[in-house]
Amino acid sequence: MQIWTSLRTSKSWKDLKKPLGTILHPLVHIASAVPLLVGLWDFWQRNLGANPIQEITHRTGKTAILLLILSLAISPLRQLLKWNQLNKLRRPLGLWAAFYAGVHFSIYVVLDYGFQWNALLANSLTNKFILLGFTTGVLLLLLSITSLTYFQKKIGKNWKKLHRFVYAAGILAALHFILAVKPGVLRPWPYALVMALLLLFRLPPVQAWVKKTI
Ligand code: HEM
Repeated sequence: MQIWTSLRTSKSWKDLKKPLGTILHPLVHIASAVPLLVGLWDFWQRNLGANPIQEITHRTGKTAILLLILSLAISPLRQLLKWNQLNKLRRPLGLWAAFYAGVHFSIYVVLDYGFQWNALLANSLTNKFILLGFTTGVLLLLLSITSLTYFQKKIGKNWKKLHRFVYAAGILAALHFILAVKPGVLRPWPYALVMALLLLFRLPPVQAWVKKTI
């Protein structure tokens, strides 16, 4: 905590915080659009390897989970840096995560199954990892819709409680990733570990300790 305290209280950090805060919002949008633009460019250049459908499924899935992790990392960072402006980044990061999850799902429906709904349903209902992905996708969609100012006002004080479901989405997304790969493949574990640490940070005893210490 010593490092955080000296960083937070240093004059140069205090001077930098405000101007940096104003450019973070557009920066988040630009950075979040990069994987989409790179994907489109690689598609155009036929640079998606031997199995392009699998490649874009993997890329969009990983981008979705990464953005979800970043949106969950905002609260701890805001607390540790005492930087309230960071809060404004949660919504764009969450919306971009939902966008990539939507593209990921569309690839499955359109390119993997060519809209053959019967085959899609038959395979999905018996496949645990697809069911987990689908549940995460539905949660992200609901959270995105209710993040609109109109719904925030309509839902009122229960809005915060409702948006705690983003943690459930995080757990389900990590499980979906773990089950999507062959046993023994380590690719999902760094994501799952960071997700677990972020969830741990929100636990009341950890929160009480953080508030007392920083
Ligand atoms: C909406 C319903 C969803 C469906 C139908 C779906 C389907 C799939 C499929 C078919 C794969 C490829 C598995 C393979 O290569 O054999 C996959 C992988 C993956 N999905 Fe999903 N998914 C969904 C939602 C999500 C969501 C919401 C996230 C993240 C927030 C996500 C993250 C991932 C990741 C990280 C991978 C693995 C990528 C890799 O192996 O590198 N998926 N999903």
